[in-house]
Amino acid sequence: MEIPKPIPVYSFLLILPLYFLFYTVTPTSSAPMQDQFITCLHENSNVSFPLAETFFVPAKNVSMFREVLESTSQNLRFLSKTMPKPEFIFKPIDVSHVQATIICSKKLGTHLRFRSGGHDYEGLSYVSEMEEPFILMDLSNLRQINVNIKDSSAWVQAGATVGELYYRIAEKSRVHGFLAGLCSSLGIGGHITGGAYGSMMRKYGLGGDNVLDAKIIDANGKLLDRSSMGEDMFWAIRGGGGASFGIILAWKIKLVPVPKTVTVFTVTKTLEQDVGNKILSKWQAVAADKLVEELFIRVIFSVAANNGSKTATTTYNALFLGDKDTLLNVMKKGFPELGLTSNDCVEMSWIESVVYISGFPSQTPTDVLLQGKSPNPKINFKAKSDFVKKPIPKSGLIGMFKKLLEEDSALMIWNPYGGVMAEIPESYIPFPHRKGVIFKIQYVTAWPNSDKKPSRHINWIRDMYSYMMPYVSCNPREAYVNYRDLDLGRNKKNAKTSFKQAQVWGAKYFKDNFNRLVMIKSKVDPENFFRHEQSIPLLPV
Ligand SMILES: Cc1cc2nc3c(=O)[nH]c(=O)nc-3n(C[C@H](O)[C@H](O)[C@H](O)COP(=O)(O)OP(=O)(O)OC[C@H]3O[C@@H](n4cnc5c(N)ncnc54)[C@H](O)[C@@H]3O)c2cc1C
Ligand SMILES: *[C@@H]1O[C@H](CO)[C@@H](O)[C@H](O)[C@H]1NC(C)=O
Ligand SMILES: *[C@@H]1O[C@H](CO)[C@@H](O)[C@H](O)[C@H]1NC(C)=O
Ligand SMILES: *[C@@H]1O[C@H](CO)[C@@H](O)[C@H](O)[C@H]1NC(C)=O
Repeated sequence: MEIPKPIPVYSFLLILPLYFLFYTVTPTSSAPMQDQFITCLHENSNVSFPLAETFFVPAKNVSMFREVLESTSQNLRFLSKTMPKPEFIFKPIDVSHVQATIICSKKLGTHLRFRSGGHDYEGLSYVSEMEEPFILMDLSNLRQINVNIKDSSAWVQAGATVGELYYRIAEKSRVHGFLAGLCSSLGIGGHITGGAYGSMMRKYGLGGDNVLDAKIIDANGKLLDRSSMGEDMFWAIRGGGGASFGIILAWKIKLVPVPKTVTVFTVTKTLEQDVGNKILSKWQAVAADKLVEELFIRVIFSVAANNGSKTATTTYNALFLGDKDTLLNVMKKGFPELGLTSNDCVEMSWIESVVYISGFPSQTPTDVLLQGKSPNPKINFKAKSDFVKKPIPKSGLIGMFKKLLEEDSALMIWNPYGGVMAEIPESYIPFPHRKGVIFKIQYVTAWPNSDKKPSRHINWIRDMYSYMMPYVSCNPREAYVNYRDLDLGRNKKNAKTSFKQAQVWGAKYFKDNFNRLVMIKSKVDPENFFRHEQSIPLLPV
């Protein structure tokens, strides 16, 4: 989700013995779990860890524990009092600690969640609603970035944010970049596991399309790279969703060329200024997916107060990989309806455009990217996604705007496809939304902690989603796994019914790639160690 600028499945037979191992065997010692865990870590790693900086236990210092838990977690919904909390948080400072954490979680029979950047829409990286007790491993101390301009690549550890990665690339070269998310605080570890799109996707595809190698710890605590994990697993981790196959330690990514000068613009229209939806209709028909690949124009819909009443606005927020004059030419020919003028356009370096598109105020120095912060304050939110393959007719738009205006804090982001996205085969990585997609819709509703009736907002977004059904992809109704949505289904303990349901949400996220993900999951993690509400299930036996 980008806030705009203006504003286990258990195979029954397989799991029974495991189930006993994990849940009914009482710990052999009566020492608190964290003490047993620490002892186990010492037995399994030779690298020492200063407890005060790596271990956070509520009983020891609850405010410190909460601070660490909340540090990168983006969705306040999953930080409320009623949400289950981890027994403790461990922040490893060495690869061997990550390996030992897997071994020790198994030994103690506790469920494990792990977090890179904390942006999971359903809080799955720091909250388990399906199994307790659970512990949390936070990878934010593992954030090294090594950029190699000579061979146009970089190794980046899971706990680094995309903003830091962009900054470190730009620090070495003005004509290299990388394509991942628009929001600077995303953790590269979790982000790429779902595909990772950004404002250069029409030119270069997804972050996941541009991964050369990876280091991952498997369910046995073994460190693997591309050659030792094999091409199946390497395929699955680049888009098959987070926390199903292993723990990514680092990605080796391919840098892409960017021009010395790029151009950005943001043009906002109220409903009244877009009579008959002329501009929006032209965007759908042409400007989203049919103009040059160097151009990315997204549309952000929001609701604004207008002299006591409400109005909807559409904001055209764009990056062009080229200079102003070329852009104005492209727009004059392809999208004159927007009426873009020279004054609307700002030329800058690619790294400045990252700060701009991320939503920081203009003139914010680029080193803000090193702070790992999002420009937006944290809020409670619920989001959903859709893919559109035929322009939405005017009749559909009228009802859509009406619904949008019913909600106070609604947001929609339409994000253009086409270009290279349409040329990459659906099975290249698990992310299947390619040819034929004109744009993706993200729906968001948000509310502050003081809101007494949050269910109203959840109901609103579900209602909007059902209204949109006739206008979006169907059979399956596709969805983006990085915009995780538990309304689509969640894993349950009954393997058979759960698998049937997983096939439904699995098809939405991965289309036919789901079957291959299930086969790979069953091979690389047959005990289903890596599991959560929407992890890839094992093939039922
Ligand atoms: C404000 C905001 C803006 C966003 N903008 C974009 C965008 O522009 N483009 C886009 O594509 N997406 C975007 N997203 C979605 C984002 O890609 C996903 O939320 C992504 O999963 C975030 O990764 P993370 O490491 O920050 O999250 P986390 O919450 O840490 O992890 C997400 C999932 O991956 C698992 N995971 C975490 N680390 C690892 C690891 N090292 N190895 C294996 N699994 C792991 C977690 O357990 C969890 O299941 C946005 C989300 C937010 C909240
Ligand atoms: C710790 O170091 C010893 C001696 O170097 C080595 O034999 C042992 O395998 C190491 N253990 C771990 C868990 O790395
Ligand atoms: C607990 O943690 C807070 C930081 O969140 C710190 O200011 C405080 O001194 C700590 N208290 C103790 C007793 O260590
Ligand atoms: C706001 O509404 C009032 C009363 O309807 C009207 O007099 C005023 O001109 C409006 N202001 C603007 C800026 O539209």
